Amino acid sequence: MTTLIVNIKELLQVRENSVLKVSGAEMAILPTIKNAFLLIKDDLIADFGSMDNLPKIIADTTIDVSGKIILPSWCDSHTHIVYAGNREQEFVDRINGMTYEEIANRGGGILNSAKKLNETSEEEIYTQSKARLEEVIRLGTGAVEIKSGYGLTVDGELKMLRVIKKLSQNYPIAIKATFLGAHAFPAAFKENKKGYIDCIVNKMLPEIAKNKLADFIDVFCESGYFSVEETEQIMNAGIAFGLKPKIHVNQFNSIGGIQAGVKYNALSVDHLEIMTPEDIEALKNSETMPVALPSCSYFLSIPYTPARNMIAAGLPLALATDYNPGSTPSGNMNFVVATACIKMKMTPEEAINAATINGAYAMGISETHGSITKGKKANLIITKTIPSYYQLPYAFGSNLIDSVLLNGKIY
Ligand code: NIG
Ligand code: FE
Repeated sequence: MTTLIVNIKELLQVRENSVLKVSGAEMAILPTIKNAFLLIKDDLIADFGSMDNLPKIIADTTIDVSGKIILPSWCDSHTHIVYAGNREQEFVDRINGMTYEEIANRGGGILNSAKKLNETSEEEIYTQSKARLEEVIRLGTGAVEIKSGYGLTVDGELKMLRVIKKLSQNYPIAIKATFLGAHAFPAAFKENKKGYIDCIVNKMLPEIAKNKLADFIDVFCESGYFSVEETEQIMNAGIAFGLKPKIHVNQFNSIGGIQAGVKYNALSVDHLEIMTPEDIEALKNSETMPVALPSCSYFLSIPYTPARNMIAAGLPLALATDYNPGSTPSGNMNFVVATACIKMKMTPEEAINAATINGAYAMGISETHGSITKGKKANLIITKTIPSYYQLPYAFGSNLIDSVLLNGKIY
């Protein structure tokens, strides 16, 4: 089955297959081909180039996209889209003056979502989660990481991970699963933190590994949640079961989580709203991808990740949504890209690199996703007729997506 797309106004993020991430000054460069063609064979990108060099091929389907731009699908490397219900009341409580921390301290926040999740059937959680997944696919996401972490019990965590697995079996989008049992200490273990960590290490992890339910392990390393020492212990246990760490760090405080992540060769360290010069230094010359979540900064009115300082230091940066019921009830990568440009002063080229190739790296799939490269998955966004790709962040409230392709097929 071959599909030939012709008259592409501009084809973005055209790369050799050796490029797995871009860092520092490279982030400002977005390689493109104007007036391009793209050939898809089955689910893969087979060829592309200038229309001037269009080979003579008879494809099964030919699509003319005159005036439209094509780019690889967004790679959203950090979400919590499997959850039950919502936290609208906490949203209004924050408008009325309470802080995210005060809400968590009164037993709301993550524990509120954990209570709802444990009271909801697996079928119902699947139904709610698939609606969110379908929504983000229509918004251009073609690969997504999804975390557990609202169970906080053996049954609840396994239930979430089974839902993630079922989503990955039923949808044509790449899904990576992350075990985040260490998201918060459940009420039952408030006075027995060691007991909960024992449960994660000795009960949850073996069961998850046995059933192959996760690719990565995550910990919320933050004051009032998991200390650096506890984070290291849990990363260590995850690594022993073959799960690479991807961790929540520096959302509210810089307590050494980045250094711990780098030490354990984490695939990514995510949030990074509060960054010291030492934190930036620690990431230099590491394999760990820093990931910013600007929609979370927007929704909670907390600082934005200092992208300019990080890029100036030569670091790579990825962008993701953090879609979750508490800090970011939005999975819109288009908004993330626009907000990164508007609030973090990333250029459109840097933001698109961060949301595609670097996002793919942050979930370990940049050999198959995140760029227009021969042999990579044909997961694509076709825009509406727009003057240039600057429109994507510039017209921040508009939906500029005409259609999306997953595995070479229009979704
Ligand atoms: O990434 N920071 C920790 N976890 C989530 C939010 C959790 C919640 O409020 O439900 C996050 O922002
Ligand atoms: Fe998160």
